[in-house]
Amino acid sequence: MEVIGNLQLMQERSLALRKEGKIIGFVPTMGYLHEGHLSLIRKAREETEVVVVSIYVNPTQFGPGEDFDRYPRDLERDRSILENERVDILFAPSDKDMYPPDFSTYVEETKISQRWEGERRPGHFRGVTTIVAKLFNIVLPHRAYFGEKDWQQAKIIKRMVRDLNFPVEIIVLPTVREKDGLACSSRNTYLSPQAREKATSIYKTLKKGEEWLRKGWGHKEILEKMKKELEEIPGLELEYLVLVDPDTLEPLQNIQKENLFLIACRVDGVRLIDNLCVKLEK
Ligand code: PAJ
Repeated sequence: MEVIGNLQLMQERSLALRKEGKIIGFVPTMGYLHEGHLSLIRKAREETEVVVVSIYVNPTQFGPGEDFDRYPRDLERDRSILENERVDILFAPSDKDMYPPDFSTYVEETKISQRWEGERRPGHFRGVTTIVAKLFNIVLPHRAYFGEKDWQQAKIIKRMVRDLNFPVEIIVLPTVREKDGLACSSRNTYLSPQAREKATSIYKTLKKGEEWLRKGWGHKEILEKMKKELEEIPGLELEYLVLVDPDTLEPLQNIQKENLFLIACRVDGVRLIDNLCVKLEK
């Protein structure tokens, strides 16, 4: 595996590969790789000729007081995982190259980024769209892979690519979960064993919501019951639990064919997000 830190070198490498007619698959990550990341990388390996994975903990998507400083990092561990997955290029740029001191240009989606995570983490999605746009311009991929785990993020990236005409195909893949249902996340490392146990109630409650949707219950009743279940877990603080349209992310007035539960909560202070899309025969 080639490891590239330099921006210009990466771009030149991609330009040369494209000239050779190679199809480039790209998986942007913040590292501390887990099975969720690996599912994206394996799909890229299957579908494209040259697989590029980026590892970059992007400072502009973290708000003041968030976990940028303590975000888990282990480049050596990640590097050997990527070697094993037969990744062709690891792109790991430095902060000073990505954001020179006089950096002053940002990319912002202004509609679907406003709600939910956007409301709770002001500036977060602006940081995400800016870094992903930069990475697309540097890596020049034909296809880029994202996870449903961050449903809102994936929708915003798709919108940015459409609105700004990036010549990239966006592929969004299902959430990978641990055996007990907890969605894989680099942030799960923050959980104490007790918090880890409590965190399983997130997916359990989402699955109950699904069951109640399938039974034909009304959405208000379902959300109330789900919230009540979660309130009973000590140390679990709900930020939002909503039922929305999977495309617009607007709250649902009525149950439709496709319904998306979005949840964000803190478990013993650790912030976690998850979601579940429920398709009904209608
Ligand atoms: P990160 O959290 O490292 O996630 C990288 C990619 O892996 C994202 O597309 C994310 O949705 C996906 N992913 C995370 N957990 C997953 C899971 N359990 N199952 C499936 N896919 C999962 O998301 C980011 O980094 C950053 O915002 C980034 C896009 C790299 C921009 O900095």
